[in-house]
Amino acid sequence: MSDDLDALKHATLASLAEATDLRAWDAIRVAVLGKSGSLTALLKELGKTAPEERKARGAALNVLKTELQAAIDARQAELEAAALEARLAAERIDVTLPPQPRAQGLIHPISRTMEEMAAIFGAMGFEIAEGPDIEDDWRNFGALNIPAHHSAREDMDTFYVPAPEGEARRRVLRTHTSPVQVRSMLTRTPPFRVIVPGRTYRADHDATHSPMFHQCEGLVIGRDITLGHLKGCLIDFLRAFFGVTDLPVRFRSSYFPFTEPSMEVDIGWSRKTGEIGGGTDWLEILGSGMVQPKVLANCGIDPREFQGFAFGMGIERVTMLKHGIPDLRPFYESDLRWLRHYGFNPLSPAMLHEGV
Ligand code: DAH
Repeated sequence: MSDDLDALKHATLASLAEATDLRAWDAIRVAVLGKSGSLTALLKELGKTAPEERKARGAALNVLKTELQAAIDARQAELEAAALEARLAAERIDVTLPPQPRAQGLIHPISRTMEEMAAIFGAMGFEIAEGPDIEDDWRNFGALNIPAHHSAREDMDTFYVPAPEGEARRRVLRTHTSPVQVRSMLTRTPPFRVIVPGRTYRADHDATHSPMFHQCEGLVIGRDITLGHLKGCLIDFLRAFFGVTDLPVRFRSSYFPFTEPSMEVDIGWSRKTGEIGGGTDWLEILGSGMVQPKVLANCGIDPREFQGFAFGMGIERVTMLKHGIPDLRPFYESDLRWLRHYGFNPLSPAMLHEGV
């Protein structure tokens, strides 16, 4: 092979080896074999070659062309394979990674309020106590100093359940969470602090009353519990729950058979705008008082040694006020549109990390 062909061959093979992608490879292909490529030019010049040299030159050029074409094709295959490898590596999917959690259900506002109450009172050293929805008459009324024929029984529109065979005490669907006060005093050793979030029942049904609703009871028993403790505890709770640090709180003298003295607790709000803590109006939120000594005695606690305070509030009511929910009925209707609007995302950071 003549020197010029040899030089072209080596130069082409060297630049092919240096080409690291298909774009560089294609530039070489065009520069050698394209219409105005160097080898194409040599082939075109063949006609000008002296006739005695033409045959040998033609044969040499053809050999070179075949050789270079093969080298170009081989490099193309290599570069295409490398490009595919690179793409597969870049687009690799790790099938062992756990999927991102997707929140599906939402927390019902009632559950959310109960969780918030548990968090706030939990931070104050309260434990959660529970009792059954079907109670006996004595725990729901008698032990709480609500004797038979007391008007409070009618006020509460009680659902009665027949006494089980062979038992004297008839049962009721508990009309309040207060019977769990009785259960707590009978089973715990003072001092103790409990809250009782749970279901309650009254035969009453309209826009602001449901036959099944929820309350949260509280009971603190100790040797030197005073009205001051009651007030401090409830003021702190209400300010934390509504998220208003200077929320006005008012204690108003009232009557409950199971407390003496008894107080209703109001918070400041604006009747016009519904703003909690704003305006000059008062809104009743809680019933409370110092546990009536007879109730302590009924539950086996010596009133000369121990005293305490108790409180109870409606969970729906505080939830509606806090979140501006106007109607009670949709709480129990399982309407997805309502739930999506008022529900809480269980995976939201606020839900996961909050101390409320
Ligand atoms: N049980 C009362 C009710 O259902 C609420 C209540 C008031 C509970 C005063 C208490 C309390 O523990 O001290 O209306």
